[in-house]
Amino acid sequence: MIPQIVRDMSKHRQAYLDRISSADRRLVIEIEHLMGKYCFVPLDIPNIVDASIVDWFQENKKSIIKLNPSLGIPKYGAGHGGFDSVDVYKDETYYPVNKTWEINPYNFENFKFKFKDLYEQALSSLPFKDLNGFMFWSSTEPIIPHRDHNIFVDFPNNFRTMIYDNNPEQTLWVKEHLPGTQFQMDGTEAYIPRLKESNSYIWNNLRVLHGSNHSPAHFKIMMIYTRFQPDWYAYRELMERSIAKYSDIVLTSNNSVVNFLGHDI
Ligand SMILES: [Fe+2]
Repeated sequence: MIPQIVRDMSKHRQAYLDRISSADRRLVIEIEHLMGKYCFVPLDIPNIVDASIVDWFQENKKSIIKLNPSLGIPKYGAGHGGFDSVDVYKDETYYPVNKTWEINPYNFENFKFKFKDLYEQALSSLPFKDLNGFMFWSSTEPIIPHRDHNIFVDFPNNFRTMIYDNNPEQTLWVKEHLPGTQFQMDGTEAYIPRLKESNSYIWNNLRVLHGSNHSPAHFKIMMIYTRFQPDWYAYRELMERSIAKYSDIVLTSNNSVVNFLGHDI
């Protein structure tokens, strides 16, 4: 019996493959075969920072709530909060496909004007052809283990930049999880390493759960990239470079993709 979450993840993967061009579909499936075993990879790109982002975030943030439950986690249902956000989308047509959370919109052109270097740096260093949506989120409570309701292809696919963090220790972790099985916090969660030279990383949302501790005296802001056209050739090049550079940090999986999708690819 295939667990419901596995069937759901397979369905979302297929819907994604159906949305993209046939040329991209071929590249994506090729990358799944090459990169499926990688669960987490720090990105070999320069730090993405801007000292004035904290004040801007504090001025514009809003507490948001979930509009739809997370896949496989009934407890993390609609109405749940836990984040302050500022969401920057070119226009409403670029809002996330699975509208899971409330949006706290900030004008895209104003953002690009105010944070020109930051925007251009993200666009030029990440493997994107364009960048039309990204969000700044700060957790206001511990975040329970979950997958984001966004993309379920089998390779590292969720891009993040920790743009600010004054916690004395890392609070954000990832851990591989076989869907449909009980998850236990058991001390083997992989807290994301803090590197001097890079504050960006990528994880495989199909294979890993992520979650976060919370210290009320501290706070962090994550930049979450949500709407972009991937440049799959640049993606492969960046992944190969990052995996070689951070070979002692990357997390890999020994499980078959069948455990996550219910079928082979
Ligand atoms: Fe998340």
